[in-house]
Amino acid sequence: MQSIQSFLNMCKIDDAHSLIQTTTSYPTDLEKLFPSSMVSEAQNTISNWDGYSPTSLHDLAPLAEAIGVSKLYYKDESTRFGLGSFKALGGAYAVEKLMAGRDASQVTVATATDGNHGRSVAWGAQQAGCKCVIYIHAEVSQGRADAMAAYGAEIIRVDGDYDLSVRQCAEDSAKHGYEIISDTTWEGYMDVPRYVMAGYTMMVRELKAQAEPPTHIILQAGVGGLAAAITAALWQDLGVHMPKVIIVEAGFAPCLIASARSGKAETVHVTEETIMAGLSCGEASPLAWEILKQRVSNFVTIADSAVPTGMRLLASGDAGPKIEAGECGLPGIIALAGMMTNDDLRKSAGLSSSARVLVFGCEGATDPEIYNNIISGEIA
Ligand SMILES: Cc1ncc(COP(=O)(O)O)c(C=O)c1O
Repeated sequence: MQSIQSFLNMCKIDDAHSLIQTTTSYPTDLEKLFPSSMVSEAQNTISNWDGYSPTSLHDLAPLAEAIGVSKLYYKDESTRFGLGSFKALGGAYAVEKLMAGRDASQVTVATATDGNHGRSVAWGAQQAGCKCVIYIHAEVSQGRADAMAAYGAEIIRVDGDYDLSVRQCAEDSAKHGYEIISDTTWEGYMDVPRYVMAGYTMMVRELKAQAEPPTHIILQAGVGGLAAAITAALWQDLGVHMPKVIIVEAGFAPCLIASARSGKAETVHVTEETIMAGLSCGEASPLAWEILKQRVSNFVTIADSAVPTGMRLLASGDAGPKIEAGECGLPGIIALAGMMTNDDLRKSAGLSSSARVLVFGCEGATDPEIYNNIISGEIA
């Protein structure tokens, strides 16, 4: 089909690095760091939330055939709790855990965000009955800011980049006694982000009932929290039958491929914002890195250029069912297509015509104005 082929022609890998991983069961050091009991508690809790239902897993058969793999599964997070991304699972769960046994009216939670994580924290705070302050940077769209304000959060826009919003949030929180609900970790701060990650694993519980285990999973990463949560929970379940894990990042924010090269959680300077706003993070999460370094075999980066075309392809229904995919929904598909046309990368990841590949459609139209401009072609 022409629309599939013209999209696939745009899918290229910009940078790649591989690590050799041996097949083991979930290691005991990780069981201490990110325990299976914490994962199952989060999954049991979230499955009892009002309005919970599993998100769809789509079988993108026409796209799988064109790319040359046996199966391409797409976990579609566009409908998650009406918030439009998997992030709904993490921040809100961490707020609930933090609030247990406390008088919520006395607590203010705070976070810095590109949009999706903040929406989850604001939603969780509204349900828990505590106050919420959200820090956003200069480039966060007004649509995303409004969506957070709609849950009653106070929005503070800083005149600078994401890192400045993180610093401002930390300073104000120290001054006013806010509880920070971050989706990334730093020295001495791990408990809350660990709950955020445990919340994300709800997707793994759902996947078990939706498809046979994949041979490969491709996970997009900002700080790496999503990728580490999915990797750990699948590894806890599947042990030595754990699939190969591939990480894809935006070329403008390549902190995990830098970490793979150096062997420790790295920070890179983000000089340009990627269209995949949720992936625009320069600082790898140290907790996430502890998990990823033990299991990820391939790290790749992609450019922004194929994202809008891919979004239009998924919306058209030519690649499978019609899908509302936001900018962060595309990286897994782009990475797979790019790797399959590169002999070295294909071999290094063990990708072949029998591969069953799982990708994560992390978000839907989280900013409807940007989404509509892309689908209409106004943003090419
Ligand atoms: C839609 C979406 N996808 C992926 C990510 C990346 O997640 P992480 O920063 O945990 O790697 C984000 C982060 O905000 C996001 O909003």
